[in-house]
Amino acid sequence: MRVGPLHLREAAGADVERMLAFRNDPSVNRFMLRTHVDPAAFRAEWSAIGARETDFSCVAEVDGTVAAIGFLDVVDGMGQPGMPRRTEAVIGYIVDPQLTGRGVASALARGLLAAAFGQLGLRRVTAGCFADNLASARVLEKAGMRREQHGVEDSWHAELGWVDGYQYAMLDREWRAQQPAGVRRQA
Ligand SMILES: CC(C)(COP(=O)(O)OP(=O)(O)OC[C@H]1O[C@@H](n2cnc3c(N)ncnc32)[C@H](O)[C@@H]1OP(=O)(O)O)[C@@H](O)C(=O)NCCC(=O)NCCS
Repeated sequence: MRVGPLHLREAAGADVERMLAFRNDPSVNRFMLRTHVDPAAFRAEWSAIGARETDFSCVAEVDGTVAAIGFLDVVDGMGQPGMPRRTEAVIGYIVDPQLTGRGVASALARGLLAAAFGQLGLRRVTAGCFADNLASARVLEKAGMRREQHGVEDSWHAELGWVDGYQYAMLDREWRAQQPAGVRRQA
């Protein structure tokens, strides 16, 4: 998928070392739930993505260079017996710290929502962040997601202790309503 300056595509084996080059950067890990990834485990996870039918995580290229990682996991919400399965997704993103502040995450969030609601036909998408992660909250709000929850001291931060967390969400109809008329018809 092309979205703004980004080309979103499946990660190839050769991309993983490039992703690892920034995945464990302290500025990346500051607000990630998984603060450090073991390189061997990271390689194994990405090489297995093709076999996991609910995982649509991707890389985002700018001018042929991997600039960011996008996460899109199809999940089940809560519900009683009979609930339709796999109608939701959780999204997330990591931008190479050398390339932040240029709109990469904003474009990537738009692309992940388009993939979830357009190609995958999902019903609802959620994303969470630490309340202190102001840039991430801004990215989600710019993408048109609603802040559904402000969890007071609901999130554990390794350096800060219990801190507030935000949960954002968007429904299929909300996404469609914000698309230009042509895109709405195609989706
Ligand atoms: C958070 C992150 C995804 C932002 O990526 P990015 O490519 O720099 O984001 P963008 O350039 O698309 O947009 C950032 C927005 O946040 C704003 N912003 C940045 N720092 C901010 C701050 N300290 N306070 C308020 N707003 C801030 C920017 O001004 C911009 O908004 P604007 O377009 O209205 O000006 C990136 O820094 C990152 O990967 N961080 C580490 C991993 C991470 O935290 N991932 C998210 C986990 S929930």
